Amino acid sequence: MVTEVINTNELHKMDPVFGQMSFDNHEQIVFCNDKDTGLKAIIGIHNTVLGPALGGTRMWNYTSEWEALNDVLRLSRGMTYKSAITGLNLGGGKAVLIGDAKTQKTPELMLKFGEFVHSLGGKYITAEDVGMATSDMDLVRTVTPYVTGISESKGGAGNPSPITAYGVFMGMKAAAKYKFGSDVLEDKVVYVQGIGNVGEALVENLSNEGAKVYIADINQERLEEVRDKYSVEIYGGSNLYAEKMDIYAPCALGATVNDFTINQLNTKIIAGAANNQLAEEQKHGKMLRERGIVYAPDFLINAGGIINVYAELENYDRKEIMRKTENIYNTTLEILKKADTENITTHQAAFNVAQARIDARKNEK
Ligand SMILES: NC(=O)c1ccc[n+]([C@@H]2O[C@H](COP(=O)([O-])OP(=O)(O)OC[C@H]3O[C@@H](n4cnc5c(N)ncnc54)[C@H](O)[C@@H]3O)[C@@H](O)[C@H]2O)c1
Repeated sequence: MVTEVINTNELHKMDPVFGQMSFDNHEQIVFCNDKDTGLKAIIGIHNTVLGPALGGTRMWNYTSEWEALNDVLRLSRGMTYKSAITGLNLGGGKAVLIGDAKTQKTPELMLKFGEFVHSLGGKYITAEDVGMATSDMDLVRTVTPYVTGISESKGGAGNPSPITAYGVFMGMKAAAKYKFGSDVLEDKVVYVQGIGNVGEALVENLSNEGAKVYIADINQERLEEVRDKYSVEIYGGSNLYAEKMDIYAPCALGATVNDFTINQLNTKIIAGAANNQLAEEQKHGKMLRERGIVYAPDFLINAGGIINVYAELENYDRKEIMRKTENIYNTTLEILKKADTENITTHQAAFNVAQARIDARKNEK
């Protein structure tokens, strides 16, 4: 019981949900618990003005429920702005499962989670995120239609990660065009941090273009596997942030641009797949601007995955998926220029465009 560990006065001070900094006017937050399967999940529905809240499910071994709640709130809010700026008729939502995906993810747990998703009647539609595979979504699909990112063999658009990576690559090229006057990445020094599903596909795009790629990950086996496939170098140092590079591509988890790292950064561009790269959007966005580091907003350039899964709802084909994803190049360039013209951070510029679209739809209703 909560009262056994925190006295009620402390709870009052903390305002556990509505008072959270990352709460930011979420419409609905659903806590799901199932004793038999060990499921502990939180579904965050941030905003449904543009459409149903679509966003992936992350399974992570959070150190506390606070951490899980904060993560789902930040992620679902990010989805609202990602879909809005990409021009999709979707709202923002996300789910987190508390636990180790390697040891605690069972078919029973995924099915139970699917039942909870189903109980929301389509207000929230799930997909995969960190710790989830297409096969998990296939399983969820057996208990609810409110799931995307299912296998191509089952009528879905398949694994979104290569499309996400391609969108990030487009955003990175746009940032290079803006910063260096050319979008050719040949010989540019790029550090990819996190070589999971998206990171590896990004490495492939970059090595095809002739970039000088360094890879970093906490998984040594994975590092060796990716190095052997693409002839890239494993970063052997202890502080990647301070290394001299042209582009830093965060592709692991969020908040790597923070009070500790920001002054060490020795890069010209930040463009990666991870969600919520800036620990504090306003403060760190401003600091990057002051330091002349071009930041390609994460929620803008990592939208390839949502474009891919949206195809399952709207029935558009591969060609249209690629066209929409390639358009990330144009939008990124526009946003970088807008930030300059208005003397605001690139994050704020992207956010303003997304918010304007949401406000316009709200006014139409
Ligand atoms: N999969 C998608 O389509 C998609 C779409 C949009 C955004 N994203 C975001 O992109 C990021 C990567 O997603 P993914 O699907 O590739 O996940 P993934 O789980 O496949 O890969 C994450 C990788 O990061 C590594 N990692 C974790 N902590 C690390 C650390 N401290 N330093 C270095 N490496 C670390 C892991 O070992 C793993 O290899 C996530 O933030 C995710 O939310 C993914």
